[in-house]
Amino acid sequence: MTENNKLLMQAYIEKIEDKLAEFTQDKPEIQGIVSEAMEYSLSAGGKRLRPILMLEFYRMCGGNDLDSILEIACSVELIHTYSLIHDDLPCMDDDDFRRGKPSCHKAFPEDIALLAGDALNTLAFEVISEAAIAGKIPAEKAVMLISVLSKAAGKDGMVGGQVIDLQTENEEIDIQTLNLLQSKKTGALIEAACVMGVILSGKFEFIPAAADYAQAVGRAFQIVDDILDVTGTFEELGKPIGSDEDQHKNTYVTLLGLERSQQIAKQLTVQALSSLSQFSNNEFLYELTNDLLERRS
Ligand code: IPE
Ligand code: IPE
Ligand code: MG
Ligand code: MG
Ligand code: MG
Repeated sequence: MTENNKLLMQAYIEKIEDKLAEFTQDKPEIQGIVSEAMEYSLSAGGKRLRPILMLEFYRMCGGNDLDSILEIACSVELIHTYSLIHDDLPCMDDDDFRRGKPSCHKAFPEDIALLAGDALNTLAFEVISEAAIAGKIPAEKAVMLISVLSKAAGKDGMVGGQVIDLQTENEEIDIQTLNLLQSKKTGALIEAACVMGVILSGKFEFIPAAADYAQAVGRAFQIVDDILDVTGTFEELGKPIGSDEDQHKNTYVTLLGLERSQQIAKQLTVQALSSLSQFSNNEFLYELTNDLLERRS
């Protein structure tokens, strides 16, 4: 990344993290432990890719008041963080580390981690609806955003993908099924982030191009995640290496091998960049999209 884009990225992350910190400030005495668990996972770091995508699509489509939509950009990070807490639970991928720290269920009792995930899920929709009630966005836009995010997170989106992922452990699936699994478990939320940015800008005619970009990037992103599970280190990734093999998962690497997986991630990135060319002011996202292919974390 150019120095200037690195600074922009850092500024985005700071703004997002400051906003995320506000959501769990209040810790009522009796049930405060759930806010602590939410805060623990939200503040543990991570790339903040999904809110950045929302902010960038809003900006590329002419949106010029980033601060006013910051909390809505964070809504997708709330859902993502909930999905990671649940993904690590013993009944799912059974992973003890996340974002360089013990997983939520290792730092807190398992029942509290489960409930912290549940509370992050509902908080996302509270944040969007409250923004409309406070007059920050029109109610009609809030309904559209809630519709997009709830579908992407639910049984036909992220949750659906996680179900296929878990149900096909220990059996070999074909590449079409793996693509479906990955486009739901990872692609759906990434697509929601991009489309929500367009909705917030009001330039609805750009929704199809944003969705095309996101589908390609989402698939490339999960393929790289599968590759890093084999080629990465714990220090780089902050999560256990070899988790997919331990859990007998179907991944791009198990189905097609490392080299072919890398080629396909590259092809999908090229495809994503071609969709991105329909947007003006796309230099930052162009660079970020390329960097995601080479990422080590
Ligand atoms: C990890 O997502 C889970 C996948 C969908 C591949 P990220 O790689 O975006 O995780 P963080 O947010 O940076 O921790
Ligand atoms: C999880 O995919 C995607 C989610 C919906 C959280 P993975 O199980 O591959 O994610 P990591 O590797 O644990 O981050
Ligand atoms: Mg998983
Ligand atoms: Mg996992
Ligand atoms: Mg993984």
